[in-house]
Amino acid sequence: MCGIVGYVGAQQAAPILVEGLTRLEHRGYDSAGVAVLASGGIRVAKRAGRVRDLAEGLPKRFAGKVGIGHTRWATHGAANDVNAHPHTDAPAGQARVAVVHNGIIDNAAALRHRLTEQGVELVSDTDTEVLAHLIALSGADTLEGKVSEALAAIEGTYGIAVVHVDFPDRIVAARNGSPLIVGVGEREMFVASDLAAIVRHTTTVALLDDGEIASVTATGFTTYRQDLTSTAKTATVLDVDPAAYDAGEHESFMSKEMHEQPAAAERALRGRLDERFGTAHLGGLNMDARETRAIRRVKILGCGSAYYVGQMGAGLVEELARIPADAEAASEFRYRNPIIEPDTLYVAVSQSGETIDTLLAVQEIRRKGGRVVGLVNVVGSAIARECDGGIYLHAGPEVAVASTKALTNMFLGFALLALQLGRVRDLSIADGRRLIDGLNRLPAQIEEVLAQEGALAGLAERLAEAESLFFVGRVRGFPVAREGAQKFKEISYRHAEAYQTSELKHGPLALISEAVPTVAIVPADELTDRNVAALHEIAARRGPLVVVTHADVDLGDLEGRPDVERVVVPRNERELDPILLTVPLQLLAYHAALHLGHDIDKPRNLAKSVTVE
Ligand code: F6R
Repeated sequence: MCGIVGYVGAQQAAPILVEGLTRLEHRGYDSAGVAVLASGGIRVAKRAGRVRDLAEGLPKRFAGKVGIGHTRWATHGAANDVNAHPHTDAPAGQARVAVVHNGIIDNAAALRHRLTEQGVELVSDTDTEVLAHLIALSGADTLEGKVSEALAAIEGTYGIAVVHVDFPDRIVAARNGSPLIVGVGEREMFVASDLAAIVRHTTTVALLDDGEIASVTATGFTTYRQDLTSTAKTATVLDVDPAAYDAGEHESFMSKEMHEQPAAAERALRGRLDERFGTAHLGGLNMDARETRAIRRVKILGCGSAYYVGQMGAGLVEELARIPADAEAASEFRYRNPIIEPDTLYVAVSQSGETIDTLLAVQEIRRKGGRVVGLVNVVGSAIARECDGGIYLHAGPEVAVASTKALTNMFLGFALLALQLGRVRDLSIADGRRLIDGLNRLPAQIEEVLAQEGALAGLAERLAEAESLFFVGRVRGFPVAREGAQKFKEISYRHAEAYQTSELKHGPLALISEAVPTVAIVPADELTDRNVAALHEIAARRGPLVVVTHADVDLGDLEGRPDVERVVVPRNERELDPILLTVPLQLLAYHAALHLGHDIDKPRNLAKSVTVE
């Protein structure tokens, strides 16, 4: 949530900052602003709304070669012009310091009180503004010293970038719990909360650690601990393709990312399947066969869609390894003083690797001595660093708020984990090889589902007319239904509720009517007959049906009814079917939202990474 970008070099900063902010907008988009160091002092432009509004309103003469920018997702105070970042220590024309900040200052109220008593006038409702004043009031001789002194007074999380009129050649940045990188260019340097902001300029970066401060000038950077002793960090070249951060010919990132799934799935599997022994190789788990064998339980923690795919993962672990497994919302976990068991493997699943609830769950487990591994997409992210080992997802950058390709790769990560756990137990080599064959078939089968986009778009437009929908499934199909409902509500803003098909008659059937369609997950498996029986109950109450199913499932006299639509996905091994059943639900959500004219990549009230509690 929220994005930071900074520039120091020979070019005009403002256009570079605005372009960087556009690329960060998925992380927060209720207001945006930039500050540049100009000859007469600091110039600030900021306003509520999107980055394009900021760009349109930017004064013609906004010259300056050192600057910082921010796109905000409100946490303290409403999304208005005053609360937008950068924050300064004084009104326009008199400001000496400008600050942009991601994260939350927990003791902001006490600091505001203290500053007010000292006669400081605070103009915004934000926690960040106190930082600008603390830096301005510091008696230290250097900007690094002033920032260090100010940070010593605050409690909470931050990624910050600071400019000061008395130190016009530099940006000072600092990190604690909120990612921040320094980008190295040709006689120009960058600061960013996410590589996306600067990838068009450089992929040579240094990732700051928690507690680190960086002083960045046009010709280089120096890193320090908070007590200003050197950490001598150097930059490395990241192996990323800048094009991965562009939507290209796609009308949105979500569309692009859905269509990237076959290639992303291949990357997730590459080099990890061992056909000879019918198992998976996951060296990053840092566990030998004896340790793997000693695991008695698996507990998966994630939020939102990562939690739902975690439920799919728990199913895979139970089926393949016969180890009791369950998934829990990471956002709830630490609040119930969880019992941490030594022979349980805890698995944290997160695309961003930044989700604060998942990170705090990991910290709770580690504090109590548990072993936790991560299924994480963003390499070097906070959760990845905090875990004892893990499986990187290799989905590539995911920009759309609605997670698609990362989610698919999470499922594959769980399948690999379950295979490895199973093969040190009772899963036979034949079953291991059967699953490996299935995994190898998946990318092409995902492509087959994506090829149905035209037909699914028409169906989605009809579903979009409904104010309220059910998504139902059983056992392997239930997390699929939950994820389908999640995607649908996130971007179409329709009320979509997931239920176990078996639970319908225990209450929700009362809501079924002509106006409430049900999307039913009905794979060809041991529950098909029971599922089809439930479909009849829905049809008897005139509820329209979309049945996501396999070609050989017989819907009996429901076939051919005008209010029953069939979406057919290819069959794989039954354990792997959930992910193929999920892909058409992404397309349904996408086309419903498109039809309704919504901003697909930036749905209302949501941001890509939830870094605040
Ligand atoms: C849904 C979605 C969210 C995320 C959740 C966890 O499409 O994107 O529900 O899945 O916020 O995010 P990560 O995976 O980054 O921890």
